[in-house]
Amino acid sequence: MGILVHQSWIAVLSCVLLMGGEVWCDCSGQNLDIEGGHFTLSKQFERGSKLTYHCPDGFYPHPKMERTCQLNGRWKPAPNGPQKCKLVECPDPNVLEYGIVSPFQEKYFVGNETTYECYSGYNMRGSTKRICLENGKWSGFTPICSNDIHDNCADPGIPAGALRTGNIFGIDDKVTYSCNGNLFLVGSKERVCQENGQWSGQEPACYFTYTYDTPREASGAFSGGIRDTLTILKPINDTQYGKSLRILKNGTMNIYIAVDISESIKEKEFDTAKDTVTKLLQKISSFTVNPNYEIIFFSSEIFEVANILDFLDKTTNYSTVIENLKTFKRIGKESGTDLNLALKTILERMQYMKDGNFTHRVHTFADYRHVIILFTDGVYNMGGSPLPTVEMIKNMVYMNAATEAKDPPRDEYLDIYVFAIGTAPFDEELQPLTVGVGGKHYYRLKDISNLGATFDEMINQDDVVGLCGLHKETNEPTLNNRIVKRYMYPWLIFIIIKDSKCMGSLVNSKFILTAAHCIPFGTFPENITVETELTEEKIKHNITNFYIHPDYNLSAKRDIGVKEFYDYDVALIQMEEELPISTSLRPICIPCTKETRDALKLDVKSTCADQEKALFKDHQERLSFLTKTTNIVDKADVHAKLGDNRPDCIKHALEAESMPNNIKVQDVVTENFLCTGGKSPHRDDIACKGDSGGALFKMYQHRMIQVGVVSWGTKDLCKSRKLPNPVESLENTRDFHINLFRVLNFLKSILGNDNQTDYAPMTFLE
Ligand SMILES: *[C@@H]1O[C@H](CO)[C@@H](O)[C@H](O)[C@H]1NC(C)=O
Ligand SMILES: *[C@@H]1O[C@H](CO)[C@@H](O)[C@H](O)[C@H]1NC(C)=O
Ligand SMILES: *[C@@H]1O[C@H](CO)[C@@H](O)[C@H](O)[C@H]1NC(C)=O
Ligand SMILES: *[C@@H]1O[C@H](CO)[C@@H](O)[C@H](O)[C@H]1NC(C)=O
Ligand SMILES: *[C@@H]1O[C@H](CO)[C@@H](O)[C@H](O)[C@H]1NC(C)=O
Ligand SMILES: *[C@@H]1O[C@H](CO)[C@@H](O)[C@H](O)[C@H]1NC(C)=O
Ligand SMILES: *[C@@H]1O[C@H](CO)[C@@H](O)[C@H](O)[C@H]1NC(C)=O
Ligand SMILES: *[C@@H]1O[C@H](CO)[C@@H](O)[C@H](O)[C@H]1NC(C)=O
Ligand SMILES: *[C@@H]1O[C@H](CO)[C@@H](O)[C@H](O)[C@H]1NC(C)=O
Repeated sequence: MGILVHQSWIAVLSCVLLMGGEVWCDCSGQNLDIEGGHFTLSKQFERGSKLTYHCPDGFYPHPKMERTCQLNGRWKPAPNGPQKCKLVECPDPNVLEYGIVSPFQEKYFVGNETTYECYSGYNMRGSTKRICLENGKWSGFTPICSNDIHDNCADPGIPAGALRTGNIFGIDDKVTYSCNGNLFLVGSKERVCQENGQWSGQEPACYFTYTYDTPREASGAFSGGIRDTLTILKPINDTQYGKSLRILKNGTMNIYIAVDISESIKEKEFDTAKDTVTKLLQKISSFTVNPNYEIIFFSSEIFEVANILDFLDKTTNYSTVIENLKTFKRIGKESGTDLNLALKTILERMQYMKDGNFTHRVHTFADYRHVIILFTDGVYNMGGSPLPTVEMIKNMVYMNAATEAKDPPRDEYLDIYVFAIGTAPFDEELQPLTVGVGGKHYYRLKDISNLGATFDEMINQDDVVGLCGLHKETNEPTLNNRIVKRYMYPWLIFIIIKDSKCMGSLVNSKFILTAAHCIPFGTFPENITVETELTEEKIKHNITNFYIHPDYNLSAKRDIGVKEFYDYDVALIQMEEELPISTSLRPICIPCTKETRDALKLDVKSTCADQEKALFKDHQERLSFLTKTTNIVDKADVHAKLGDNRPDCIKHALEAESMPNNIKVQDVVTENFLCTGGKSPHRDDIACKGDSGGALFKMYQHRMIQVGVVSWGTKDLCKSRKLPNPVESLENTRDFHINLFRVLNFLKSILGNDNQTDYAPMTFLE
């Protein structure tokens, strides 16, 4: 444990004489030092500057976390008395009923370990061993000793540092919690035993002023709450939570994000905040629920990046919002935090949504579900308490009706999440702003950094694993590179026939798409081995059949000297068993399916041609494929030359080795091929032998869409490969890939065949 060097500031006293003879002075730099730590200032010693104390991990500043330089040139609170970094303490675990906590100590410090044991006749739930962590929380779960014999609900336990009243756990019985000493309660103060045997709300916790949630905890818990809201694709009987999820109508999810950018949130944090919001949006958008967004940054003023009414009017869309977010600049020197103004803006939008006249109105206000996410450093020094505004929002969404009286209950239609950010957020004012049933709604974070990264893992996609093209970017340092790739490209399949290896892509739980030339003439299904890598181990699967494109004929042009003709080089392999879909094994999207339409966020009336337009916008369309080295895959980047760029690209096909003279390029490169390679205007990568059959794909708003199958190339450059990088193209080397838009009839005839009972057919668009 290193103790940071003290940081001393030279006090420069300066005063300003204002009109009217008033004198404003800077604050003094005296007596500010902290033993064992250091401090930072938001605006040097100027008025309004915020001083924040920092301590090494496992320590916290005592007695004060922050000071503010007031207009009168004095610090508040005043620095009288010593300030030091104290060892983090965890709340008292000796609240366990019917059991023993050892060792018994008066105080428990960071690193201290405790073990829990129940009296005989009582059963243990929760953790039997817990460690006091640097953020002031115990690891694991609250230990509970109970003899749950005849109660309707299980004993809800007593969290460390808490006091519980209520010892009867029958239907409608209540338990209430409070925290001892100088701890405060985060979570449900009161819980009711419900008919389904579950307690309402969520387990509360006792926090010290220095207790915080790690980004991982915050995003993990936040995911639980918002996932329900986002994955309402089909009603499922969720006995665990005692409620069934309801179908949400398309376009009825409203997400409001308000981010505090007042001066107390530092400049560099502004970009982090923007990134975090972007990440959050990207993650949410990977689900098929198309939410409407309101995004505001606020201080004493409102800066609106996305107006939700534009979504309802269909004058904006997700891509535009992401773009606007990117270019949004912090304006001027915002001061003050008017959280109430931010919430009032949201209320106004709701009011308009309710009363307004929209050209494209399809839903009534009652259909909309609202999720408000607030990021604030926790001080609102202007505009008054936002609590009355929250009450008005609640009334509006609950439609002034008793929430229980409606089915589904109206309280499922509003969630307010608060991310309180900073060393000393105003919990007492902020926590009451949270609204929502189930799941933690109040988060307390030291700073906003890392939140974006963990949002990536946030929304647990396990419920929607079957959705095509979803993947997981993970930067978990403990995972090895191969597993990271597995999450990134969960559709990747290896196909082994005799000694030759190819790649393929999972297009649904029963089919793999690959190149026809990977399955040479005379191959039987038994000769094909399909390998998936589930996290660490390789798993071999049996196949029942394969289908080669009926027009594929490698020797079709032997008569004009073309030894190998690769037109229609596609095949589908049918698995004997459905593959177990998970976060590390799930399908990629293929063109012209309904699922891909949703992934591309196209209209329900959109056609196959609309998908092609969305995917091939540029005449230098950036695409990727995977290239394999010894035991790991890497992404290779290419640009498909389309339109005017195509002729120049494909003409190099004739430079391939063993290509006969005097043939036309059209004889070897039909309209069914996409052409990549070359160095200008972009330097492309080139495929190697084992990459055949792999997916040529496009990353589209965080979903991966396959547009081609890697087929053949003009030159093998792979011998000179410098691992681990992909091989770069030369000026005139080219690769050719089967364009999936050109072999749709084949794909449809097998994948979309509803005249069989072996597998669920996919729905293709016209
Ligand atoms: C608890 O932690 C404190 C501070 O690190 C240490 O001095 C003490 O020995 C620990 N107690 C036990 C029982 O480990
Ligand atoms: C949910 O479970 C109940 C009782 O087990 C059953 O009656 C109902 O049909 C189920 N609903 C669905 C959609 O599976
Ligand atoms: C969106 O609407 C279409 C057609 O109305 C429907 O088929 C589809 O399931 C809906 N999607 C969701 C997520 O509700
Ligand atoms: C989103 O809006 C922009 C600008 O109005 C438009 O150019 C773009 O095509 C739209 N994107 C989608 C996916 O609708
Ligand atoms: C809504 O707008 C349309 C077109 O602008 C108009 O014809 C209609 O009268 C308006 N309805 C109401 C209730 O204002
Ligand atoms: C392919 O399978 C057939 C039929 O099971 C078998 O006779 C043949 O030996 C296999 N070929 C190879 C190379 O394994
Ligand atoms: C594959 O087929 C073989 C022979 O029919 C069988 O023994 C084996 O269990 C099958 N493997 C799987 C994973 O089903
Ligand atoms: C492939 O093309 C050659 C040359 O046109 C033809 O003789 C042969 O029958 C074709 N093979 C198949 C399986 O159609
Ligand atoms: C479906 O299968 C039946 C029986 O094999 C056949 O008669 C019919 O033509 C098939 N229909 C289609 C659309 O393939």
